[in-house]
Amino acid sequence: MPFIVAIDGPSGTGKGTVTSYLAKKLHLMYLDTGATYRCVTLKLLNEKIDFEDTEKIVKALKNIDIDFKKEKVFLDGEDVTLEIRKDLVNNNVSQVSHILEVRQAMVDLQRRMSEGKDVILEGRDIGTNVFPNADVKIYLDASVDERVKRRLKQNKEKGIESTEKEVRQNIEFRDNNDKTSKIGPLRQAEDAIYIDTTNLSIKEVESKLYKLIKSKKRDDKWIERGYITTPDTWHKRLSRKVIKGFLASLYHIFYRVKITGRENLDLDEGFIICANHLNYLDAAAIVLLNKKFIRFVAKSDLYRLPLISYLGHTFDVIPIKRGKNDLASIKMCLKALKNKEILGIFPEGTRKGLDKNVKIKNGAVFLAEKAGVKIVPAGIGGTFKLFTKIKVNYGEAIDIKAYQSDDPAWIDKASEEVMNKIVELSKE
Ligand code: DC
Repeated sequence: MPFIVAIDGPSGTGKGTVTSYLAKKLHLMYLDTGATYRCVTLKLLNEKIDFEDTEKIVKALKNIDIDFKKEKVFLDGEDVTLEIRKDLVNNNVSQVSHILEVRQAMVDLQRRMSEGKDVILEGRDIGTNVFPNADVKIYLDASVDERVKRRLKQNKEKGIESTEKEVRQNIEFRDNNDKTSKIGPLRQAEDAIYIDTTNLSIKEVESKLYKLIKSKKRDDKWIERGYITTPDTWHKRLSRKVIKGFLASLYHIFYRVKITGRENLDLDEGFIICANHLNYLDAAAIVLLNKKFIRFVAKSDLYRLPLISYLGHTFDVIPIKRGKNDLASIKMCLKALKNKEILGIFPEGTRKGLDKNVKIKNGAVFLAEKAGVKIVPAGIGGTFKLFTKIKVNYGEAIDIKAYQSDDPAWIDKASEEVMNKIVELSKE
């Protein structure tokens, strides 16, 4: 599975230097997305295309060839590494990058260039727009004063003459332009890690980010192990039996459990149990207090914890990456269902999802349709406070064929219906 790191932030925060360093240290492909906008700007200027002339811009975008090789940038086969950093491009790139057609073409290009690769991208909208599912998202920031200081120093080193006033005006203008743009604005993604570099040296930022990404990569490796189904050896079956017996006894000590509708689980084929999700212990109630072997589908992040990872392997839990089109997980689920196994899924996708007003996930109905199996709804009731009562009420199997139609929205509607049934059962 490709590993994607998104580095966003305004100009002058050291993004370029830091990203290029991290790419080398962590063996990731480096993609400077700003350079793609700079190439388009240079092409439009070279071909004297008016920035308002959408037709000509679209035509130019169709023929554009942007390539990165050995730290050099090529536009239509020509090395433009230095040219795209000159004032002519500097002064026009902001405007060009906010043209809708340019934006769409560059986002497509950036995705294509990254396809199937371990990559680190720097820009303004990577974590929010280009790769909203990136594995690591970082937002680098620094005060305007500090960025002015850094830019003046950089200019001096490059022999470029500039006054503090000019540099400040330019940074403030670009900040405003980038943040207020209607198209691909500069914005911190909700799940991005914010790092203020004002009082940090480049070395300090590099080391901080290196540690952060490295630990995420290690975690990811651990998670990937969850996708390897360990063989069903006699010792695995024995561990499962012992653990199940032990935990089930604990369950009965700490809770008064009432299970109804067990006969609905007596199907001769594979099926999916869909339940409401109140607490982590509700999955345990379904798995532990059942003679049948039920494999739950759970968020892959759980495999990050060694003990849970061990339990996950012992109980053949199927990991799923949240918010991603996790094909590996879907394949594992379909294989299990075809193998007449029983899967457990929480359509809320998260604990107390109904209270949080989440959209009901349609994965269970999707799998049921693909594998041609039924869904058994299960309503769980109780507070999960120690020594209180917990109810698990299994309902009659639902044949989702009854909901199928040509309208692609049928799958969402059927998922809602299954959830309504679960809620009803939880109240009985
Ligand atoms: O990072 P840079 O200064 O080379 O970026 C050049 C311009 O491109 C800058 O004005 C912001 C814009 N840009 C963008 O809009 N989206 C990106 N992902 C990267 C850069």
